[in-house]
Amino acid sequence: MNKEALWVVDFGSQYTLLIARRARELGIYAEIFPWNKLPEGLPKEVKGIILSGSYASVSQGPPLPEHWIGQRPVLAICYSAQWLAAHWGGAVTEGTSREYGPALLEVVEKDSPLWMGVPAYSQVWMSHSDTIATLPEGAKATARTQKIPYAAYEIPQSHLYAVQFHPEVVHTEQGETLLKNFLYSICGFSGGWRPENEVDGIISQLRQDMPEGEALCALSGGIDSTVAALLVHKAIGARFRGVFVDTGLMRRNEVQEVLAAYKAVGLPVDLIEAQSAFLEVLKGISDPEEKRKRIGHLFIELFEGVLKRHPAIRYLVQGTIYPDVVESGGSVSSTIKSHHNVGGLPTHLSLKLIEPLRFFFKDEVRALGKKLGLPASFLERHPFPGPGLAVRILGEVTPERIEKVRAADAIFLETLKARGWYNQTWQAFAVLLSQRSVGVGGDHRMYGEVIALRAVDSTDGMTASPTKIPYEVLLEAANRILAEVPDVTRVVYDISTKPPATIEWE
Ligand code: XMP
Repeated sequence: MNKEALWVVDFGSQYTLLIARRARELGIYAEIFPWNKLPEGLPKEVKGIILSGSYASVSQGPPLPEHWIGQRPVLAICYSAQWLAAHWGGAVTEGTSREYGPALLEVVEKDSPLWMGVPAYSQVWMSHSDTIATLPEGAKATARTQKIPYAAYEIPQSHLYAVQFHPEVVHTEQGETLLKNFLYSICGFSGGWRPENEVDGIISQLRQDMPEGEALCALSGGIDSTVAALLVHKAIGARFRGVFVDTGLMRRNEVQEVLAAYKAVGLPVDLIEAQSAFLEVLKGISDPEEKRKRIGHLFIELFEGVLKRHPAIRYLVQGTIYPDVVESGGSVSSTIKSHHNVGGLPTHLSLKLIEPLRFFFKDEVRALGKKLGLPASFLERHPFPGPGLAVRILGEVTPERIEKVRAADAIFLETLKARGWYNQTWQAFAVLLSQRSVGVGGDHRMYGEVIALRAVDSTDGMTASPTKIPYEVLLEAANRILAEVPDVTRVVYDISTKPPATIEWE
């Protein structure tokens, strides 16, 4: 536990992660708890509580931890504000349709500490169907909109502040001021929390968690597993056992670049050369799920081999980050994401799982990586799936087809870097389709391969939209691919959003 913390209770709102994010951006360590998995007591470090919104309506939704109200300042958002109104002597009307979108808010109680510095009128973001009809006992209204008279209220003697809109969403113009007022003026946080200042604390915790025995860390070449490994290596030194598998399915020069980066930061990593083993298990396989399954099994076999060679291994290090924890059932707001990360080992191996990044967001992991000495070029690399190019080759994976998609991918990424677009897109890559198409080569018709280019804007990979790369840049990449990659006669650009498409093609 940090020296001071904000607790966020999640009732299933799609915005709960954002609440914690905003608090951390304001320099305050925030932790999320699902409403049905709350800790028993309130440690003294907890200086304030935010109760989230919910997908549910007040009549059917989960109960609030009422016993905490009065013990610490509480900010109740949307559902929570309504639930309190309904259960504390006020009333809520159930709406038949959702009010969703911007609304003009008018502050009516300018002297409230929550509203300091907030102009009389500003835009807020609404997403609710229930509405407060009567305030709870002892409450006074502090803001309204044209549609709802009690857009915000407070019960000062209980240190309870409530808003029916969403201050955590960027579309609420004064959301940051409001959260700042709550956290600093009302709760009295001193602030100054920064992820990079946590490095020493994480390392000493890791030492306590791993008193003896070795730790296996399967590195993928990505940021999360690398930062997790660096922390563990700093904590336990020679007891750290890092492995990196060359699947033969990586991007061009990637294996060398990743190993060089590990070397530069002093991370000892054993290379497992398994290119031919991966080719062997993928031989003749076109079904995407079967490909993933076989790749996953082979990874496990390889790690089991490491465990046999190093019987002192007791721990398995994984680069799980906070959104993964919350999304995979640690919280109720989960839209369960299938965790396709490699490195998961069967439970019968009874290794203790070590996840040093489980309380950090992606950009915070980058900040930790920077502090630990990882170069910017490494930290800015696009995400890459564990099964590698195998899921970017539709149909059978053969050495020739790997080489084609790798060459096209390298040209696309090179072009994006040269034209200043690499860092403006979240992820970009080439896909080799299974369907051939007609083209002309010299003076004869040929039946050539098709390459699809994909570049997406996203913040977490859960949703995505195609990056609006200028036509000239796409044309430049396409022309080079057609000229330089043998047998390719057609290049297309994928303009699908996720959902319904996924980012990868398989
Ligand atoms: P999808 O295709 O599910 O991808 O929209 C979302 C993000 O996850 C990456 N991805 C994977 N990462 N192992 C991984 O480590 C996988 O099997 C895998 N499949 C997809 C994908 O590249 C994108 O960033």
